[in-house]
Amino acid sequence: MKMTIKRSILVAAVALGFAAPAFAAGPAIEYQAQNWSFNGPFGTFDRGELQRGYQVYKEVCAACHSMKYVAFRNLRDIGFTEAEVKALAATFQVVDGPDDSGEMFERPALPSDKFPSPFPNEKAARSANGGAYPVDLSLVAKARVGGPDYLYALLTGYKEPPADFTVGEGLHYNEAFPGHQIAMPQPLNADQVTYADGKPATVEQMARDVSAFLMWAAEPKLEDRKRMGLKVMIFLIIMTGLFFAAKKRIWRDVH
Ligand code: HEC
Repeated sequence: MKMTIKRSILVAAVALGFAAPAFAAGPAIEYQAQNWSFNGPFGTFDRGELQRGYQVYKEVCAACHSMKYVAFRNLRDIGFTEAEVKALAATFQVVDGPDDSGEMFERPALPSDKFPSPFPNEKAARSANGGAYPVDLSLVAKARVGGPDYLYALLTGYKEPPADFTVGEGLHYNEAFPGHQIAMPQPLNADQVTYADGKPATVEQMARDVSAFLMWAAEPKLEDRKRMGLKVMIFLIIMTGLFFAAKKRIWRDVH
């Protein structure tokens, strides 16, 4: 019995040992760490940045990408009022139904609806994008190594390919994308959006704002988590002090 356990541990270790290099085989790309407001133990989201990021998502990315885990009413969290959320939602169309005659129909979105996909299904999305699928962006900031740093690098990573690099048909050279060829055409160009707060809409600014927005979408409770972590740390420090004082008192007379 003992022998079999030992052997299975050995087999698992060997299997893992062989499997690990296979995962690490891809070309490693380093992403420059950005200075985000939500970094570090005291980090918080910058509401202005998130609202600009939403605008970039709505005016640029939503033409191809859905965010099916985020509802319009969640936008209250980033500082929009109830009336604003209603108005923002109504600018999207969603499919509802069936109606009394059994037909599906389109209607303006309500705050309780999720950000819809611009395509009726995955096949339609692929056929409009040369076979590639524009992923749902709800969780992408958490689903990719590098998180928002990667997103920023990706959105600002469209460059001329090196002379010895052949880019496949329908693909675009991108420094940050693994393999350097991506089906998504460069989505951001200078002055593509007009920010209400007057910030110049450079590619870098828009990339930053939308990356922060996608980070919020993927982890809307980040601030609560950090606040709670801090409270727990303070509690533990105080408790340690108390226990230490109590221990000294209780053992005072024992030599
Ligand atoms: C014209 C359609 C289109 C627009 C507009 C567009 N994308 Fe994409 N996007 C795609 C397609 C297609 C893919 C899949 C690329 C691939 O697999 O090669 C993709 C992939 C991605 C990915 C996944 C990359 C990865 O690591 O797999 C991210 C993140 C992304 N897009 C973000 C954005 C953001 C943010 C915007 C808005 C600023 C945006 N996209 C605008 C079509 C688009």
